[in-house]
Amino acid sequence: MQNLSYKGIREKYIEYFKNNKHKEIPNSSLIPENDPSVLFVNAGMFPLVPFLNGEKHPLGNRLTNSQRCLRTGDIDEVGDNFHCTTFEMLGNWSLNDYFKKEAINYTVDFFVKELKLDINKIYTSVFGGEGTIPEDSESISIWKNIFSKYSAKGKRIFKYGKDKNWWGLEKGGPCGPDSEIFYDTGKEKCSPSCNPNCECGKYVEIGNNVFMEYLKTDKDIKSLGRHNVDFGGGLERLTAIIQNVSSVYETDIYKPIFLKICQISNKDNFESQRIIADHIKASVLIIMDGIKPGRNGQEYILRRLIRRAVRHGRKLEIKESFTKEIGEICISQFTQIYPQLSEKKDIILNTLDEEEKKFRKTLENGLKELDKMLSREEIDGGKAFILYETYGLPIELTEEILEEKGRKLVKHDLFERAEMEHKNKSRGAAKGLFKGGLADTSEMSTKYHTTTHLLLQALREVLGNHVYQKGCNITPERIRFDFPSEEKLTDEQIKKIENIVNEQIDKALPVTFEEFPKEQALKLVQFAAFSERYGDIVKVYYIGPKDNPYSIEICNGPHVKNTKELGKFKITKQESIGSGIKRIKAILI
Ligand code: ALA
Repeated sequence: MQNLSYKGIREKYIEYFKNNKHKEIPNSSLIPENDPSVLFVNAGMFPLVPFLNGEKHPLGNRLTNSQRCLRTGDIDEVGDNFHCTTFEMLGNWSLNDYFKKEAINYTVDFFVKELKLDINKIYTSVFGGEGTIPEDSESISIWKNIFSKYSAKGKRIFKYGKDKNWWGLEKGGPCGPDSEIFYDTGKEKCSPSCNPNCECGKYVEIGNNVFMEYLKTDKDIKSLGRHNVDFGGGLERLTAIIQNVSSVYETDIYKPIFLKICQISNKDNFESQRIIADHIKASVLIIMDGIKPGRNGQEYILRRLIRRAVRHGRKLEIKESFTKEIGEICISQFTQIYPQLSEKKDIILNTLDEEEKKFRKTLENGLKELDKMLSREEIDGGKAFILYETYGLPIELTEEILEEKGRKLVKHDLFERAEMEHKNKSRGAAKGLFKGGLADTSEMSTKYHTTTHLLLQALREVLGNHVYQKGCNITPERIRFDFPSEEKLTDEQIKKIENIVNEQIDKALPVTFEEFPKEQALKLVQFAAFSERYGDIVKVYYIGPKDNPYSIEICNGPHVKNTKELGKFKITKQESIGSGIKRIKAILI
């Protein structure tokens, strides 16, 4: 492998594609122009959607760049080796020009010939066919030829369905099957079935060629009538691999930031140190793009990132304000990529500092109030919510403090609901915006909403009534569901949950709702506190007969009309995401 810097790899990539007749396009702002469907640019292709749809690009049909991106969905994963909130996506595009053969060959040539990655460590995944869309046999045969040309042996091509090998924006538009490229870090396999999509860290995705031949509309997926290529590759990850280090925080560009955080920490906690490095760097770029911390949309995300960094600073027992000092190193590191950082240095550092001070003050008041409460009573989810809403004390912090004092927080659904409602309000729910994009009412997402109710009830049946929805994220591809549990689900429990959900689906249960004044609704779903957090009238969804429903939840929908519309339910993955919280991903097939 070559000894290249972050900036060096970035330049080499753009140079390689320019030499192959691509034109470099500008690196756009993180804030989408004229597109309210997502809060931030989350892929290099985002600014190119009109051209992928057929509009003529002034620079031609072969384009390249390295685009700054931000993925809010990954914020909870930050702290591991390879997930970053903001990252650079290396991109090359064919607008109805070259297709699969050239695209895959360009990618492999760049990785193997230019960067000297060992082909024997490269694996790929391809679309194995699903529904009416056939397997991507063309890509499979292209990869077979490539591996045989390089005499790379063994099973290297893995086939998956839509949940893994299909790409498009959540809101719809151009999309298609993709072929991801993985690099084997050399770690032991975590289990005999460990494969490129396993998240144990053995395999790292370093690039993805999306073959955009389809168009997703509200109603269906149809031919786009053009063949585009959208390649994206994470520069941070690639740099870690090229520099032979085990995480992005040890690469030349991030290391000085990370080291400084370690230096000012009075306690060691790797995860917190990484979270601070990631969040401050992300905040620096967001402020560079003109955002200030606030209560809505992008501003809210920025506030959350800075506050989360400060909270982790507290964990590391950093006593003084520190975000400004770390921000300064981020600016000096990234000015090589973004010269505008030096012009905006003052505004960036002042913004960080002001927000940190504001939050520290909030924390102080909240902590005082928590102490007062603690001397009188136990803190349940409801009181934790008051501390959050009135004093800005984050729930995680309340939990941590209670833990330090050997006391326990009793949480329940209601807190989660109230918190979510509060967040949605703050983020601009009026426009229907949430985490990943527009509130998605596609057919698949609607199915997944209903399935989530069945899943929660099944989890309760199997694990007990203490289970509640800690977090949930639905895309047209899958459900991601977080719930409290110390133990991982056993294979037997997973089977049982799947069977219960599938039984309810097979029973063809009607899905209906009624609107009630909040008091009445809260009685129905058997929650006692916090009615003041709901609107005056709420929707109660029943699955099954109203007088004896299988599931009953307060929810805004959307939902299917009958469970028979859902298909077959399958849990695809389970992981632990930190203190007593388990995450499962599930699909309908
Ligand atoms: N847009 C594609 C992705 O983000 C390349 O994976």
